[in-house]
Amino acid sequence: MTTLDARDVPTEPISAERLAAAGLEYRLVDFADESVAKTYQRAVSRGFLGGEPTAEALAYGKTPFETRRNTAVFDPASPTAEFPVATVNSWVAPLTVPGGSEIDMWSISVVTVAATHRRRGIARALLEGELRAAASAGAPMAGLTVSEATIYGRYGFGSAIPMSRFEVDTRRAGWAGPSPAGRIQYREREELADDLGVVHDRVRRTRPGQVSGWRTRWEGFAGVSPSDSERDKVRGVRYLDESGAVRGVLVYTLGEKGGTFRFGLHVRMLVAETPDATAALWRFALQHDLVDEVTAELRPLDDPLPWLVADPRGVVQTVHDHGWLRILDVAAALSARRFSAPLDVVLRIEDALGFASGDWRLRVAESGVATVEPASAAEVDATIDVAVLSTLYAGGVRVSTLHGAGLIAADADVAERLDRAFASFPVPALDIWY
Ligand SMILES: CC(C)(COP(=O)(O)OP(=O)(O)OC[C@H]1O[C@@H](n2cnc3c(N)ncnc32)[C@H](O)[C@@H]1OP(=O)(O)O)[C@@H](O)C(=O)NCCC(=O)NCCS
Repeated sequence: MTTLDARDVPTEPISAERLAAAGLEYRLVDFADESVAKTYQRAVSRGFLGGEPTAEALAYGKTPFETRRNTAVFDPASPTAEFPVATVNSWVAPLTVPGGSEIDMWSISVVTVAATHRRRGIARALLEGELRAAASAGAPMAGLTVSEATIYGRYGFGSAIPMSRFEVDTRRAGWAGPSPAGRIQYREREELADDLGVVHDRVRRTRPGQVSGWRTRWEGFAGVSPSDSERDKVRGVRYLDESGAVRGVLVYTLGEKGGTFRFGLHVRMLVAETPDATAALWRFALQHDLVDEVTAELRPLDDPLPWLVADPRGVVQTVHDHGWLRILDVAAALSARRFSAPLDVVLRIEDALGFASGDWRLRVAESGVATVEPASAAEVDATIDVAVLSTLYAGGVRVSTLHGAGLIAADADVAERLDRAFASFPVPALDIWY
């Protein structure tokens, strides 16, 4: 459990100074002030091209902001000077790393810049400010989920946790998996939110890449949020094993295809603690009467679904970037995870922002435990940008892939040793947006 509270970190002075030079005011905002809270949330909604939130949505949506470090940029020259022209917030969450330990991750969210103020360096000031704030608080890692894959590499973030989307033609796919002996029960929406929170908190600890969620995140999946236009379509079930313990939860919506009495089932969230729970919940979705298409987002790359059906060509799996990580403290981050093979290499890490720069000797014992210390420049085995090292960190993107793309300067034998050491079991996953 983390001991860091991002809210203890004051407004970041370098970004404040840089934006002040451009006539803008950058500072933390206080969500205890009702009108500040409202305009901040409205600015976030506008920034993400959302609608104008209702009073009910604002009141409901406020809770997660209250536990976060909310920063805004104001333009005193604007006729609506109290309305932020940019927003970002952050909090410290436990990130599960290969081997099962957790490290403090500075989670960054709601990065928005008003369309009137875009492309004049505000986002850069926000992101660099967050990274400096995180480093000053002692967080070894920063992370985010992104609207576009082209924005964050320049700040040292790497696409470390790819996920997949499934589209299943249920009639073609059929079912060839087991029929687990436990029971499936329908649940009401509030109960689904409870179940998701409980099961996810157990499951996230067994997967590198996962972070802890929060109550309104689970309510969001479960159709409790007043701003969810699909909320009335949300249904859900849970899976209990033979002893009666809850091992999995499936939340979904159903939509009819134009008066045909054929339905699409969209999986909002499937969390399962055991192979039986995974199979039982997938079976429930794929074998559902009147359903001929099942879609699901944010599934792990090693989801067994294609191996549970009779015809895997009925399952289309599309891989895309999702979780992005940014190493800030090389020694703390690398020594916290376990590696899959022994290693003794010197890495030269290049970091345009300076946090991780340097030559580091990474030694991994037979046990997978790593020690990391500064090294001498004479012995460098591999040169690597911090965004690439961050991509490799969770063990889900292969060294062979990035070496093949020319992103790691190392001889093939060094790349092969790095490849074996960095791979993780199970592959990393991140099944929420944050
Ligand atoms: C993305 C966004 C925050 C960028 O803000 P901005 O203030 O215009 O960005 P900056 O002027 O600071 O640009 C910083 C760098 O990012 C680049 N950049 C900005 N937006 C980009 C985008 N959408 N795609 C790729 N690169 C982008 C700039 O070219 C600049 O590059 P450089 O510094 O290497 O020359 C803003 O366009 C926005 O609010 N978009 C809608 C909400 C959103 O998608 N937020 C991201 C959530 S994850």
